Amino acid sequence: MKVTVVGAGAVGASCAEYIAIKDFASEVVLLDIKEGFAEGKAMDLMQTASLNGFDTKITGVTNDYSKTAASDVCVITSGIPRKPGMTREELIGINAGIVKDVSAQLVKHSPNTILIVVSNPMDTMAYLAHKVSGLPENRIIGMGGALDSARFKYRLAEALGAPISDVDGMVIGGHSDTGMVPLTRLATRNSIPVSKFISQERLNQVKEDTKVGGATLTKLLGTSAWYAPGAAVSAMVQAIACDQKKMFPCSVMLNGAYGMKDICLGVPVILGKNGIEEIVEIELNEEEKNHMRESADGVRKVNALLKF
Ligand code: 2OP
Repeated sequence: MKVTVVGAGAVGASCAEYIAIKDFASEVVLLDIKEGFAEGKAMDLMQTASLNGFDTKITGVTNDYSKTAASDVCVITSGIPRKPGMTREELIGINAGIVKDVSAQLVKHSPNTILIVVSNPMDTMAYLAHKVSGLPENRIIGMGGALDSARFKYRLAEALGAPISDVDGMVIGGHSDTGMVPLTRLATRNSIPVSKFISQERLNQVKEDTKVGGATLTKLLGTSAWYAPGAAVSAMVQAIACDQKKMFPCSVMLNGAYGMKDICLGVPVILGKNGIEEIVEIELNEEEKNHMRESADGVRKVNALLKF
């Protein structure tokens, strides 16, 4: 199992590290455009192998896509991260060009790969990848909901005073500060609805804190987060690599599901060796449907800025 991660910045390097530590891939190629940067990150990571107990081979390359050839999964993290006060959508000018070029290069050398798009604005970058890569729709997956759901569970556990392992919850919709739809109605504490333990007012606060989870960290860190994004991607790569049939909310091309067409938006999907094995349609109440429609409207506005 060969995985390529494009972008050796904090998110890409964290993703490569978590993949290596989980030790399900034979090789991870880490690629960056900055001379020597990916090579250095890869060598540093390989020097943890004896300490962290993995045999995965991490190789760093500077902009040489031939070394990514025959990758089973390719992760695109390249592009600029946001600064405090910026929205993810403001990154489109620079990141769209990067994602377009990177997608084309990756597919040229790995025509059967599965693409996971991380670069922001992610839902629009995933949509762009569909339009320029030529890959089947089941082989292009946007990573946002897995990260947002992890943040949702963190906030739920905080509100409940419970261990995160007792909590389950999912965030669907757009990966944006305003477009996320945390499904508080369906969240549980060990299979019991969380509404049994915390008030609607507190749940609303959990929802709002989740939606700005990325912005909160960007304000604290001065740049976008990287540990949880890297961990979210690595879990998705593992589900594909190990054919786990595991469910994640992912940004996928919708062709009628949830009443939507020609848009990438976060919905529950089953991930396995074919990438998107199944899009899962769940019953949403009117409020949730309205939020999904508003979220889609926001993503379409950003998609309209794309030039193919
Ligand atoms: C985040 O929410 C980078 O969009 C990513 O942290």
